[in-house]
Amino acid sequence: MPEQVYIFDTTLRDGEQSPGCSMNFGEKLEMARQLDRLGVDVLEAGFPIASQGDFDAVRAVSAEIRRPTIAALARANQLDIDRAWKALEGAARPRIHTFLATSDIHLKYKLRKTREEILKQIGWAVGHAKSLCKDVEFSPEDAGRTDRSYLIECCHAAVEAGATVLNLPDTVGYCVESEYERMFADVKAKVPGMDRVILSTHTHDDLGLAVANTIAGIRGGARQVECTINGIGERAGNAALEEIVMAIYVRADVLPVFTRIRTEELYRSSQLLARLTGVAVQRNKAVVGRNAFAHEAGIHQDGVLKNAITYEIMKPQTVGMPSSEIVLGKHSGRHALAKRYEDMGYRLDSERLNRVYQAFCEIADRKKQVYDEDLVAIIAESSDPAPETYRLRHLQSVTSSLGPSTATVELERNGQLYHDSATGEGACDAAFRAIDRITGFSGAMVDFTVQSVGQGMAGAAEVQIRARFEGWEFTSKWTSHNIVEAAARAYLQAVNRAARELERIAESAAAAPKSAHTDALVDSSSRDRY
Ligand code: KIV
Ligand code: ZN
Repeated sequence: MPEQVYIFDTTLRDGEQSPGCSMNFGEKLEMARQLDRLGVDVLEAGFPIASQGDFDAVRAVSAEIRRPTIAALARANQLDIDRAWKALEGAARPRIHTFLATSDIHLKYKLRKTREEILKQIGWAVGHAKSLCKDVEFSPEDAGRTDRSYLIECCHAAVEAGATVLNLPDTVGYCVESEYERMFADVKAKVPGMDRVILSTHTHDDLGLAVANTIAGIRGGARQVECTINGIGERAGNAALEEIVMAIYVRADVLPVFTRIRTEELYRSSQLLARLTGVAVQRNKAVVGRNAFAHEAGIHQDGVLKNAITYEIMKPQTVGMPSSEIVLGKHSGRHALAKRYEDMGYRLDSERLNRVYQAFCEIADRKKQVYDEDLVAIIAESSDPAPETYRLRHLQSVTSSLGPSTATVELERNGQLYHDSATGEGACDAAFRAIDRITGFSGAMVDFTVQSVGQGMAGAAEVQIRARFEGWEFTSKWTSHNIVEAAARAYLQAVNRAARELERIAESAAAAPKSAHTDALVDSSSRDRY
């Protein structure tokens, strides 16, 4: 009888904490809604002690997303665990996920503690988490490089203290499959009380083995797998959710397990994440890459036309890959649009439908054909409209290959118009500087990418930016046929977001109880993730 493997999604935690993948509050909520539609069993929403933004996101996800278990990460100390619990309090099914490194390398160089001290800390931390929340997961960080008999002692301490899930991470992506499988089999066989505990995989892709190791972990007895959409995550990333799910789906003949993921939501989840983070999906990415179902060689095309089974091991529809059929055009009305979105799994309230319809009409005006990909782009754009403190009324730029460029900008705020001009390294830089002069903000550009949206020559340019304001990073994007205008509008949207979020962060920090130790415990590297 096949057993269920629980899908623990950590896109919003391990995924989001990797460079270039940060999401703001609204974007995290949007992604969490999609993960819920996808059917994940556990959704790790963040690391509440890391920043006010993470705390707020975990709290908001806990309040809104009621079906899956919501997990929050905490190091094995009181401040982290209490903060995680505070963020999770409103969740229908909360889980505290606490971790502590157990490999000799980490003990010696990072924690500077003895094995005995760590064992005690595990028992104390899991016990404390358990006193707050009945569902507690423990991860011996760097389990993959931990001495096996010591790992078993650590797992035993966690189970005795009440852990409901034991996660064995290959934190640095070092293990090969046979080793990873053996570790699960050993822990399962040698730790007393494992019949009450779910074993979990957590793999990183440093050697390109993350998904293979996850499957090996399942063979060794794991029934929860930790993974991220598109495999985003620290360094080379985490195991890709879509690849694990489809491996289990396609190879049910050799893997006696199943998941409850709605596979038709995989492509949409992948696309949404790519849009929210600005990290594009590589074309040849397994399962959700644009080429995953494309057949180029004549001999393959011939075979697929005769019978798709010749070269396709799964159907594009199974993962929700949109067909290249035209779905809508400029004569399509609001009902047709709403219906198409419904078919794609989005239910829009009338306010959101209005916003989306407006954007749809603009694209349909420019392009004859509007594809599902365009609709996904529109919905992502409409997800978190930044309140427009400033509106761009006019932009004029003069650029030359011989010297600096100049931009003149007119912004409106509360019905009042403001103008200014600035010079810069190029037309976009000049526009940003002119906006800074009016708004008083001064953003440092961290990332700037331009890509085409939709299909064909009529596609517009989408500019995605990540800018830092007062130590916090904000992402935003805008699509236009004019790249300079798209860049200026994206930057202004980031300014508007910064204004709103910095105000909200200040208000919510003022309301939070103060602790003299909290700041010292927060990694400086995780402070500006927002
Ligand atoms: O990779 C890792 O070890 C982690 C833990 C916090 C679970 O992400
Ligand atoms: Zn990890």
